Amino acid sequence: MKYRSTRGGIKGVSLEEAIYTGFASDGGLLLPETLPVIDRSQLKLWAQQPDYRSLACKIVPLFAGDELSQEDLEGILDRAYSSISAPEKIPIRRLSNNLIIAELFHGRTWSFKDYAMSVMGQLLEHFLSRAKKHRTLLIADGSSDDMDDLFSHIYADEKFVKQHNISSLNSVNWGRIMLQIVHYFYIYLQIEESCEKELEIVVPTGGCGNVTAGCIAKLMGLPIRLTSCVNENDTVDRLIKTGTLSLNPVKQTISPSLDIQMPYNMERIWFLLNNGDGEMINKIMTELKTHSKCQLPDSLHTELTKIFGSFSADEDAIKSTIKRCYDENKYTICPHTAVGVAYHYHQLQKNTEADVKRVELATASPAKFPEALGLAGVPPTEGLPQYQMDNLEKGDDWLKALKQTIISIDERWTV
Ligand SMILES: Cc1ncc(COP(=O)(O)O)c(C=O)c1O
Repeated sequence: MKYRSTRGGIKGVSLEEAIYTGFASDGGLLLPETLPVIDRSQLKLWAQQPDYRSLACKIVPLFAGDELSQEDLEGILDRAYSSISAPEKIPIRRLSNNLIIAELFHGRTWSFKDYAMSVMGQLLEHFLSRAKKHRTLLIADGSSDDMDDLFSHIYADEKFVKQHNISSLNSVNWGRIMLQIVHYFYIYLQIEESCEKELEIVVPTGGCGNVTAGCIAKLMGLPIRLTSCVNENDTVDRLIKTGTLSLNPVKQTISPSLDIQMPYNMERIWFLLNNGDGEMINKIMTELKTHSKCQLPDSLHTELTKIFGSFSADEDAIKSTIKRCYDENKYTICPHTAVGVAYHYHQLQKNTEADVKRVELATASPAKFPEALGLAGVPPTEGLPQYQMDNLEKGDDWLKALKQTIISIDERWTV
């Protein structure tokens, strides 16, 4: 499998190179040159062994080709997934009022990202030790704004980036998207074992990495539809409803990981839906950069609405959803998950329930957000993440601290 850029300027990139890369050098994002197709009979075969690791062992090779042996892949996945504490990896909770929750937060940082990140770490180690190279990785946890600002300063220093061989593992990186595709197949097969029906998957959305993985799963043949849910930073909701993407100032909310205006992975979705027309993507992105606004061609907007619905939840809706879910089920959700569950409750009110089941992706543990739970009037959940230590605080010089850390890591490699 080879990779190409959404702006049409780069082709023939290997998986190994793709996972070292953030933005491609033409400014675009990397995607496979072709998508594998899983027809219904193949899906039914996979349904006979639908555990998470087995599915990953089948899906990753579709995108890795001959770059990874099955034996190496199995070792990588075993080491990575041993850090996910739930035996079934993604527990599925069936609650009242047809609410189904897929808990994607049983990894080290109690966030959905852990599932892909744990494998990315192992994959990088594998590729780097095979090539006898080293890379400096930037891995950080904080609000999207904080991180974007920090990383854009690091990346603006081209000399520093080259000198220290820096890569980042945010969802600009293809590897993250590839590994998240597994979630969609796994969740679908847990809920629609017969593989006959469509399933609606509701995704709390920020930079659109997660929904991009869902879109690829859909284009590979998985019978799903996607609903992208946002907080008051509602760029994606307005885009899907109107075909216009316009950027407003970022609002701080109680679901901070969704406090992002620029859905940078949308470019991947557009490229997948416009038959790989990089020139069109270039035009749209230039318009966006110049005017902080762009209009999708009608044909592309139509394709987008065939796959995606959308919803935006304000702060009150997020709080009342956390409370209602707790009151009805004694089950606590985080404020990001609540954005999607608010959509479910909204649909119940409309009383338009069709035959299609709906599952909500729970993208973080409620234990990480005691303040939001307090504001919603529900008790905090037990246990705090063990990884919380030595955090930098607002006001600390993050940029200086990060650069210093990178330099000292590099020094260890060069002595
Ligand atoms: C808890 C949580 N939910 C949802 C999202 C949004 O995911 P994406 O940026 O892939 O749209 C994030 C991203 O940081 C997150 O941390």
